[in-house]
Amino acid sequence: MKSEIINVSFNNKLSDLSYPIFVGTNLVPDCETIIKKFVQNRKVILIHDSFFSLKKQKNKSFNVFVKILIKYTSSVNLIPMSGGDKTKSMSQLNLILEKSLSFEIDRNSLIIAFGGGVIGDIAGFAASILLRGINYIQIPTTLLSQVDSSVGGKTGINSSKSKNLIGSFHQPLAVIIDIELLKSLPKREFVAGLVEVVKYGLIHDRKFFDYIELNYKEILEYDKKKLKEIICESCKIKSEIIKNDEKENGQRALLNLGHTFGHAIESFGKYDGKIIHGEAVSVGICLAFKLSEKMNFCSQDEVERVINLFKKLELPTSLKNIKSVSITTSKMLEKFKFDKKNKNNQLTFILNTKIGESFIKNNMDLNILTNFLNDEI
Ligand SMILES: NC(=O)c1ccc[n+]([C@@H]2O[C@H](COP(=O)([O-])OP(=O)(O)OC[C@H]3O[C@@H](n4cnc5c(N)ncnc54)[C@H](O)[C@@H]3O)[C@@H](O)[C@H]2O)c1
Repeated sequence: MKSEIINVSFNNKLSDLSYPIFVGTNLVPDCETIIKKFVQNRKVILIHDSFFSLKKQKNKSFNVFVKILIKYTSSVNLIPMSGGDKTKSMSQLNLILEKSLSFEIDRNSLIIAFGGGVIGDIAGFAASILLRGINYIQIPTTLLSQVDSSVGGKTGINSSKSKNLIGSFHQPLAVIIDIELLKSLPKREFVAGLVEVVKYGLIHDRKFFDYIELNYKEILEYDKKKLKEIICESCKIKSEIIKNDEKENGQRALLNLGHTFGHAIESFGKYDGKIIHGEAVSVGICLAFKLSEKMNFCSQDEVERVINLFKKLELPTSLKNIKSVSITTSKMLEKFKFDKKNKNNQLTFILNTKIGESFIKNNMDLNILTNFLNDEI
């Protein structure tokens, strides 16, 4: 299967920033021509999910990749990190910063993030603040990171108050997506990644939603052709949405559909794996659609279609499905205060008029929201 290149560019008057996303099968062990121009004559710090350096794991692409790096640069330093949201913390960030500095990096040094969204987010953030900013490359290894977090330059860590509150916008030099890496991904993580794929259909492209609805069985069976199609389409939709709004001053916020609820739900689980990001967002998207219906923006048929698809994907669709954490209306409202979309203490939500059309709802009425949550919990 041939690899595809998608270009991410920004209509930013201050810079003509753009970078390629390479998508293919077996791209990592076969990436010599792509990677050599990025790593030659540079110190490389490879921040990777420790899963890939475990002796017992069957995915050998990582070892081949390290050999390729060593062929083109004399300085390759590895920093293994655990996957899972607990890693996105100040202490783990500090560990990366201190280790990187001990390798005597300079401004020409390059970080490569090899892992899921957690590794990409924390490594990208480290790259944005080391020596006031060095370059980095994303090699995403989960479906979620291939379709979402590796593209667009949002980097960061969590705070005890809520998710992703400490971070920066720092675009990568390139993104290399190898579908073959998903082979070792646990089914639960794979399905959680599909939530963000469905999200693109819901906010921007009804036909894409129809396609996923029609092909969900093959997608769940890791059909490579279909997987490549949905990954490429997701990256294209994301780059289309962010190209006019790199720093989320407007339309980029649509990508947050379901995330205000989702981030709150996720933080109740204290990032210990009881509820993972995609699962929390699945419930969050269903809640956003139900709230849209309650406020008469969207029809019941549309809401049911969305919930049915998530059910077919065996994802949680309601707060009542989440038994592992204790959620109350007042605790949810408290979490919403830390949402980055809020302005002047007013809550902002992403809602839908139909599948394929989201909008930004500012100044959300607190009474409506409270009654809604009381009914849902
Ligand atoms: N920056 C952004 O724009 C953005 C967008 C969406 C989500 N996110 C962030 O992404 C994070 C979630 O990302 P994630 O779901 O990739 O989580 P993750 O990085 O924790 O990976 C999930 C699990 O899969 C394991 N893993 C990774 N690759 C594997 C592979 N190929 N085979 C087997 N196991 C593998 C990890 O060790 C971990 O246990 C959240 O912190 C979320 O906030 C960021």
